[in-house]
Amino acid sequence: MAMIEVRNLSKRYKKLDALSGVNFDIEQGDIFGYIGPNGAGKTTTIKILATLLLPTDGMAFIDGIDVVRDPMSVRRIIGYMPDFFGVYDEMKAWEYLDFFAACYRIPKAKRLGIIDDVLELTDLTTKKDVFVHELSRGMKQRLCLARCLVHDPKILLLDEPASGLDPRARIELRELLKELGRMGKTILVSSHILTELADFCNTVGIIEVGKMVLHGKIEDILREIKGARVLEIKVKDQDEAAKEVLLSHDKVEDVIIASPGFLKVHFNGETDDLPDLMDYLKEGGIRVLSFAEEETDLEDLFMRVTKGIVT
Ligand SMILES: Nc1ncnc2c1ncn2[C@@H]1O[C@H](COP(=O)(O)OP(=O)(O)OP(=O)(O)O)[C@@H](O)[C@H]1O
Ligand SMILES: [Mg+2]
Repeated sequence: MAMIEVRNLSKRYKKLDALSGVNFDIEQGDIFGYIGPNGAGKTTTIKILATLLLPTDGMAFIDGIDVVRDPMSVRRIIGYMPDFFGVYDEMKAWEYLDFFAACYRIPKAKRLGIIDDVLELTDLTTKKDVFVHELSRGMKQRLCLARCLVHDPKILLLDEPASGLDPRARIELRELLKELGRMGKTILVSSHILTELADFCNTVGIIEVGKMVLHGKIEDILREIKGARVLEIKVKDQDEAAKEVLLSHDKVEDVIIASPGFLKVHFNGETDDLPDLMDYLKEGGIRVLSFAEEETDLEDLFMRVTKGIVT
């Protein structure tokens, strides 16, 4: 059984369909990147999973528990990080965490130890006695994550935890999420930016105007949106001959002579097929000067998948 199961989930706000029949599963230990542009429906989905919003149709289960029928049981096993921090003036960082720990009915005697642990994990130990409103945005963001961890939930629902962070803070957050993944937590993390999540999520879902466009294992998604790979091959004075040999290969779809001696090849084989293609060229009498795969720009691909239909 998946840790998070979303079945035909729909949400309608008056006349607007914010979610229309969304389906996905997140397995135990997965880090699932939920990606989509503004207004795609990420926050709506996460709020339903966090039992803060009722769906119009469909169902969602967290560790087998129906989020609509038994929200209290769901809340005990999830940590939800909202997309905005809220206002907590005149409260020190440790008091803030103590407040949330008390909400989860953690006994007073245990709370201080837990607070020290989550402050250390989020690298905020030195800020323990600082007022919340005196923390920088990145520190507030980490404190917010610390608060999600006080009851040691097995599932984390994080709504754009990296928004507003500087590049260094983003990298630190990424390390923290990886660490939480190693601790065995199942994590759903949303973002606008595919590349921000691509190196530590093992699964992703791309949502666009309330519909899941693509979801699955990150490698499969990347392959799917990349389509055929493009190889860049340089030859000396053999442009046409090379083109002819390449086109006779069964995994070559198209060849373009981009400039003299420089060919772009649409290849639908796997990485393991590349040495064969090199041998094939050699056997065809082509002397190759260089042979490389074109760098793909993930963000560019992402823009092609989500065509900006959202207005
Ligand atoms: N309370 C509400 N009442 C009416 N419409 C809403 C409400 N909340 C969200 N919506 C609409 O639902 C759609 C999805 O919004 P949602 O907040 O889920 O998107 P999102 O993917 O989280 O976007 P962002 O990246 O901007 O956070 C949007 O069109 C939004 O205007
Ligand atoms: Mg949102």
